[in-house]
Amino acid sequence: GRKEYLYYQEIDSTNSQAKALASKGYPEGTLVVADMQTAGRGRRGRSWYSPGSQGIYMSIILRPVLPLKEISRISLLVAVAVAETLAEELNLPACIKWPNDILIDNKKIAGILSEVVTDMDGIEYIVVGIGLNINNQPQDFPSDFRTPATSAMAEDRCLVSRVKVLQGLLARLESHYLDLLAGRFAGTLEKGKSLSVVIGQELKLDTINGVLQGQAVDIDDHGFLLLRDQSGIIHTIMSGEITILS
Ligand code: BTN
Repeated sequence: GRKEYLYYQEIDSTNSQAKALASKGYPEGTLVVADMQTAGRGRRGRSWYSPGSQGIYMSIILRPVLPLKEISRISLLVAVAVAETLAEELNLPACIKWPNDILIDNKKIAGILSEVVTDMDGIEYIVVGIGLNINNQPQDFPSDFRTPATSAMAEDRCLVSRVKVLQGLLARLESHYLDLLAGRFAGTLEKGKSLSVVIGQELKLDTINGVLQGQAVDIDDHGFLLLRDQSGIIHTIMSGEITILS
């Protein structure tokens, strides 16, 4: 459906802006897009490289009316929508590195930063932020990235319409989100599993509770990762940072 969107030529961070707007009562579906970010934020306090006119930097306000145990599904849903968009609009073999990275040939093309804001009654709103490298030249990326980066242009060698990719992404986000609200998550979950590069792999996982090593065996109905450690115990992982060992 039609929703309000705010476009900025330059902003500190679309996530910060979307949070400011959400706290003023802007409704679900409000979209914040910028051509450039001066303080783009990544996960774990990192920054997100956001040069002008090259990437897609966007954030959406969500106010999901869902049981708390279904909220975590949103993270996988967003990753699926991003990977599908790259595959279907641009023919790029995008995969999901659980939970939040989108890779092409082990290089990162997109990242997702979801921020949940709670109040006394529970979740007040969620800001989903997505950064996609589109027309970046490969040599322009800073060289100190943990994971090598890539862009649609670097994979494709031609200029890509950011508007077209954005439209494709919004349509897929909306359709998976409406499914989720209607209690239909199974299709999204199956897509997420099949696009995932981590299932079956030997991993090292950094979580807030420490480091775990083992084999990723599945993604469950909450979008959580199931990891079998050396002693055969299955751990349910809500979030963390993965290093693929095998
Ligand atoms: C990550 O991989 O660490 C997540 C990166 C998320 C970047 C996007 S760009 C649009 C939105 N605004 C931000 O400040 N961050 C997200």
